[in-house]
Amino acid sequence: MTDTFVETYPAETPPYTVGAAASLFSSYVVTSAISASHQIGLLDLLHAEGGTDVATAAGGRLDHGVVRGLLDTLVWAKVVQPDGDRYTVGPGFADVYAARGYFYWLVKGCGELFSIAPDVAVPEQRVGDFYHRDMRAVAIGSRLIGDSEVEPLFDEIVTGLDFAVIADLGCGSGQRLIRIAERDPSVSAVGVDIARGSVELAEKSVADAGLEGRVHIVQGDVLALEPTEIFADVEVVTCVFMGHDFWPMQRCVDGLANLRRAFPNVKRLLLCDVVRTPGPASPETTTIFTIGFELIHALMGVYIPSRREWLEAFEAAGWDLVRERHVAAPPSGILFELVPSAPRSA
Ligand SMILES: C[S@@+](CC[C@H](N)C(=O)[O-])C[C@H]1O[C@@H](n2cnc3c(N)ncnc32)[C@H](O)[C@@H]1O
Repeated sequence: MTDTFVETYPAETPPYTVGAAASLFSSYVVTSAISASHQIGLLDLLHAEGGTDVATAAGGRLDHGVVRGLLDTLVWAKVVQPDGDRYTVGPGFADVYAARGYFYWLVKGCGELFSIAPDVAVPEQRVGDFYHRDMRAVAIGSRLIGDSEVEPLFDEIVTGLDFAVIADLGCGSGQRLIRIAERDPSVSAVGVDIARGSVELAEKSVADAGLEGRVHIVQGDVLALEPTEIFADVEVVTCVFMGHDFWPMQRCVDGLANLRRAFPNVKRLLLCDVVRTPGPASPETTTIFTIGFELIHALMGVYIPSRREWLEAFEAAGWDLVRERHVAAPPSGILFELVPSAPRSA
């Protein structure tokens, strides 16, 4: 038998192979695994059972190697920990589960666009449909993101209002309208969304809830709504996590002013969105979502306004701000409660 010489080259390990750069690399992979684990129901299973084995998680429909690979990846962030043939939830699980909507929004909803950032940076390529996002995943992620604070706040405000018809602009999954209609059988609702993926998801959710007669989903651009019969009796308009799509300023002012024309009986506009954050990003101060939200909109060419810019737009468009609520989740989220301004006397 010949002797084998084993040589380590170079003699010293380069720091990037184990240090901060390695952590960033692994974080990206774990982030992808979290999103996938949410979509295949693995996170919900772990949440319900506290642990699982590969066969149970695969459930006869998924490849065992992939499921094991996802679980082994989650071990890196202590989302799960190996325990014999099983994986049990680890100290990182609770936060990741609570934040699963952010991960799903990022990876499944926006991943493709992040991957082509160098291409969309070229001005000549920023024409027509120059990017694609999975709007079904964006809608599902947004619903999960809003579940902890925004939706309870909406419920509190809407419960205190007297109305029979409500409209939701950029309705996404349609869940808000479904919840409101389920709670009050005298209420009817209309959701408007521009994306086919969102409209299909919302229509299916409405049908599953047995609310087809009372909740209508319309595909359309909320910036160009006409005062049709279906909008005539709407008294409350909500708009969550899409207000930035109204911008830049003049387009926003025109769009907000047009809402008063399209909904002639509107008494309240509840607009909730994430506003631009001041200051440089850093691991110490930057909250979840923030840089992902701001970069993806830069790639799409969508301006994210600051709170102050929103206030200017409301005033210019004829809406009075009656109350403003700041939420912690999503970070930098604000719910503006508005009423149509009284007509100015000549
Ligand atoms: C981030 S999602 C939010 C979905 C939902 N409002 C929620 O709170 O979960 C934004 C939604 O607004 C829709 N949207 C964007 N621009 C729009 C426009 N101009 N007219 C109608 N819908 C629009 C998108 O298709 C998407 O479904």
